[in-house]
Amino acid sequence: MENTERTYRQKTPKSAKIFARSQKLHVNGVHHNIRFFEPYPFVTRAASGKFLIDVDSNKYVDYWMGHWSLILGHAAAGVYESVREQLKQGWMYGTVNEQTMELSEKIASAVPVAEKIRYVTSGTEATMYAVRLARAVTGRKIVAKIDGGWHGYTSDLLKTVNWPFSKSESRGLTDERHIISLPYNDVEGSIEILKKARKDLAAVIIEPMLGGGGCIPARKDYLKAVQEYAKDNGAIFVLDEIVTGFRFRHGCMYATMGLDPDIVTLGKIVGGGFPIGVICAKDEIFKYADTKKFPKEGRAYIGGGTFSANPMSMTAGSRTLEILKRKKSIYSKLESLGRKTRNALTKVFDGKVVVTGTGSLFMTHFVADGTAQVQSAADAARCDTHLLQQFHFEMIAKDGIFFLPGKLGAFSDAHTDDDVKSLTASAEKFRQSL
Ligand SMILES: Cc1ncc(COP(=O)(O)O)c(C=O)c1O
Repeated sequence: MENTERTYRQKTPKSAKIFARSQKLHVNGVHHNIRFFEPYPFVTRAASGKFLIDVDSNKYVDYWMGHWSLILGHAAAGVYESVREQLKQGWMYGTVNEQTMELSEKIASAVPVAEKIRYVTSGTEATMYAVRLARAVTGRKIVAKIDGGWHGYTSDLLKTVNWPFSKSESRGLTDERHIISLPYNDVEGSIEILKKARKDLAAVIIEPMLGGGGCIPARKDYLKAVQEYAKDNGAIFVLDEIVTGFRFRHGCMYATMGLDPDIVTLGKIVGGGFPIGVICAKDEIFKYADTKKFPKEGRAYIGGGTFSANPMSMTAGSRTLEILKRKKSIYSKLESLGRKTRNALTKVFDGKVVVTGTGSLFMTHFVADGTAQVQSAADAARCDTHLLQQFHFEMIAKDGIFFLPGKLGAFSDAHTDDDVKSLTASAEKFRQSL
């Protein structure tokens, strides 16, 4: 590791200098806590296709892909031209614009629950509003989330994100006692907890595939059982598809699982790499936010944000969805890259890892023995996360391959089979060094 750090420092002297400046100006030098890694993160100068290029001109094949928002790759052709044209027309209106209709029509035709749509500029805001809407509709307070579920940093939902899912994640949260938490993929355990909150249960919010919590797909029977309990007991079922929406198919993951959510949140891919969050809901839910039709008492305030529905995000998102729809082979290509990688990493590490994920997303968990299962964030937390970070850092320093250390990887349309080969070769090298 010492040797690896030396190699990294030698190849990133400009990054070291700039990051030292950043530490003087910014808390911990970063603006999203997870972007920091030891000894210091390299500083990116440019990005194109599958590559990040740092200020020392090192090139990295990127598997982080802008927090997984860039399914077509960096500065993708098509999106690039549309964004450039939009820039010429101005980039911030603060008024109604037609670009919004174009994105909304595309989302609405692919996501049936989107009878009405509201835009914000982050996934965090989208889940914050989803929870507020659910509370307004039901007149109840309690919201159930999942152990390890990450829905952004709202003062409501920033709870039970990290192991042991019982300590507060932050000072300054306002509403922790109204957030309860369920064990993922555990029907009995979850229903038992929900029963205790039944009368005041406003909503259950779940990712159909735990993203930040370990890249773990939910079991269909689990989601169905939780949805059924919520609906039978007058609560709102919210699916957070901010990572999964348009990631595996042209639409959401829920449609493939026979689910019928009341609210779905989207983000990342649907903004084409520009800031976005989306609340999609049925009319009967969204009417509670309608300032013209719904009486003020009991109405939910859903609709602020200087930059909401700004023409840049609308244009980039709309063009991205258009390309995803037109290029029919894209999802099978991404699925094939993901599958080959999961198989290859499993083989290389021979019983030392469980590789989770589906489609183009994958995460390597170093397990104590090959029989371990990784079906929840609790299982993921028991794995050797330090070793995963080491594996990722080795690749950054020596092979020009970038994963945010410890996080899952995402393929984009800019990646090819050659990337699977180089990743496999790097993994092989790392295994031999263990
Ligand atoms: C499932 C999920 N929900 C919400 C968010 C928050 O989105 P944002 O970072 O855009 O606020 C994220 C971010 O990674 C996420 O993975």
